[in-house]
Amino acid sequence: MSGVVEPRVRVLLDPDWASGSLVDDVRRGLGGRPRRLPPKWLYDPVGADLFDEITRLPEYYPTEAERAILTAHAAEIAQACDASTLVELGSGTSDKTRTLLDAFRSPERPHGPLARFVPVDVSDGTLRDAASMLSVRYPGMAVEAVVGDFTLHLGQLPRGDRRMVAFLGSTIGNFYLEERAAFLGALADSLDSGEWLLLGTDLVKGADRLVAAYDDAAGVTERFIRNCLLVVNRELGADFDPGAFSYVPFWDPRMERIDMRLRAEEPQTVTVPGADLVVELATGEEICVEISTKFRREGIAAELGEAGFTVERTWTDDAGDFALTLARRD
Ligand code: SAH
Ligand code: AVI
Repeated sequence: MSGVVEPRVRVLLDPDWASGSLVDDVRRGLGGRPRRLPPKWLYDPVGADLFDEITRLPEYYPTEAERAILTAHAAEIAQACDASTLVELGSGTSDKTRTLLDAFRSPERPHGPLARFVPVDVSDGTLRDAASMLSVRYPGMAVEAVVGDFTLHLGQLPRGDRRMVAFLGSTIGNFYLEERAAFLGALADSLDSGEWLLLGTDLVKGADRLVAAYDDAAGVTERFIRNCLLVVNRELGADFDPGAFSYVPFWDPRMERIDMRLRAEEPQTVTVPGADLVVELATGEEICVEISTKFRREGIAAELGEAGFTVERTWTDDAGDFALTLARRD
C-alpha cells in the first residue's frame, strides 16, 4: 500500500528461546518448592488467543476499565508528555493503545506528532500482526517492534529521543513482590531523567468480583492457565495430563492478589525429557501458574518512588476499579 512503511521487527529472543529458556524455568520452577512457572509461558499462540478472549469476558472488567480511562484522558496525557517515542511493554494486540496513539498523533498536540512506536512482546505472532496493523493505521509513524522479554531486554530498547514507556493491562501485577521491585528498578535504570512511564494497575476491590474475573463461567481463564502444561509438553516433550489437574483460583487477602494454581487430583509422575527432569506430584500438590496482584493508590506511588519515579497524575475509571498512573523518571 502506498505511503505505508513496513514495520521493523527486531528479535532479541534466541531462536531456541521457547525451549532453551523454558528448560531453566522448568528445572528451577517445577523442580523446587513451591512449584511454579513464570507467566510468560502462558502466551504461546493458543494462550495469546485465549487471553484475547478473556479481555472480552463479561466478568473480566480490567480491559474495559482501562480503556475508559484512556478514552477520557489520552489527550491530556499526550499534551502533558513531550515524548516522541512510545515504547509499550507486553503490548499484545496493542488494541487499547490505539486510543493513546490517536492522541499522540493528533495535529493539536503541542509537542508534534509521535514519531515512533516500539511495541515489545514475547508473543511473536501477536506482535507482528499488531505492528503490521499499526503501520497501516498510522502512516508516517515508524513502528519498530521488538520480540523480547521485558525481564531481560530493557537495556536494549531504542533510545535517542525522549520516550514514554507504557505498561498497560496491570501486567505488572503478574510479578511476585520481589520481582516487581527488581523490574521497576531495572526500568528506571533503563530510562533517562525526565522520561515517562504510564502504568496501568488493577485496584483492590471486593473478593467476589475479583474471583469471578479469574474464574469465569465459560471456563476461558481455566483453559488459559491449563495451556501452560501443553506448552511444556510441546516444547520439552513432557507428558503432563492437563485433565489430571483441577484449576484453583483464589483471593489471597494478605498479599492482595489472585493466585491461580493447578492442583494434582491424583498422584502422578511427570517426565520432562527436554529438561532432564522427573516431577513426582502427590494428590493435592499444586503448581503456582500465575498471580495477579491488585493495588492501592498509595502503594503504587510508594513503589514508584522507591524505584526512582515521581508520580505526576493518577486517573481512575468512574467505578474506581482501575488506575492509570503517569510518572516521570527522577
Ligand atoms: N498490554 C495488553 C496485553 C496484556 S497480556 C493489554 O493490556 O491487554 C500480557 C502481555 O505481556 C502478553 O501479550 C504477553 O505475551 C506479554 N508478556 C508476558 N510476559 C512477558 C515478558 N516477560 N516479556 C515480554 N512480554 C511479555
Ligand atoms: C496480563 N495480565 C494482567 C492478566 C491479569 O489479569 O493478571 C492475565 C490474566 N490471567 C488470567 N486472566 C487474565
